[in-house]
Amino acid sequence: MGKGDTSDPKSLPRPAEHVAIIMDGNGRWATNRGWPRLVGHRRGAERVREIVRACPDLGIRWLTVYAFSTENWKRSTEEVLGLMAIFARYIEREADRLFVEGVRLRFIGDRSRLDRKLQAMMAGIEARTAGGTRLNLTVAINYGGRDEITRAVRAVARDVAAGLLRPEDVTEAAFAGRLDTGGLPDPDLVIRTSGETRTSNFLPWQAAYAEYEFTGTLWPDFTAQELAGIVARFGNRERRFGGVASA
Ligand code: IPE
Ligand code: IPE
Ligand code: MG
Repeated sequence: MGKGDTSDPKSLPRPAEHVAIIMDGNGRWATNRGWPRLVGHRRGAERVREIVRACPDLGIRWLTVYAFSTENWKRSTEEVLGLMAIFARYIEREADRLFVEGVRLRFIGDRSRLDRKLQAMMAGIEARTAGGTRLNLTVAINYGGRDEITRAVRAVARDVAAGLLRPEDVTEAAFAGRLDTGGLPDPDLVIRTSGETRTSNFLPWQAAYAEYEFTGTLWPDFTAQELAGIVARFGNRERRFGGVASA
């Protein structure tokens, strides 16, 4: 158990230290106003800025956000290119601020399919912010849980074939260390906006014991205040991890 563990767990709820968010509903937010979907995506990127800034005061030390899934390539070329451009601009514009605010930025997902220049920008900002300790921000881009697991299995198979790993040493920890999230803690709380109650291939391994919160708010309308309320409610949930209810 973690630091918040006491003899009476209810008296001191353990905060959600790692919050993961499926930022959904940008398209509907724009369409509802008769605007192009990309306007919603742009507004959505602005929300990320506000939410990132609110995290430290809410006790959140790790924030992981789902920005683009391995399934999102099915969208129109215009939308995919627009999303990539918004993403690149976010990195460009936020680099200094994240660095100054002590935010460490990392990316998960398969980068190999992304534009070369974008890949270089991603590596650059990861290196630049590597010393940040106030908040760990992880952005999932071209991320899919099944894809991630498949790549990790491939890495394990490669190591076994090369004689670097014995099959009996393939433990949960050895496997998890080969996921894109290797070294990151599992999320405590996964939030999905926009009213959809599915996980859409987001962190299936890592969120096996996460609490879930689904809100009808569309991502561009999601505020730090709503996040604070969700995090407070999380503190009152009893997480049993397969054990029995505490007295
Ligand atoms: C989430 O908003 C952003 C991405 C998936 C990239 P959507 O674009 O899925 O918005 P809706 O679900 O169509 O409203
Ligand atoms: C999940 O949203 C992916 C992201 C938020 C990046 P989608 O809008 O792509 O999910 P589905 O298609 O509704 O399951
Ligand atoms: Mg959606």
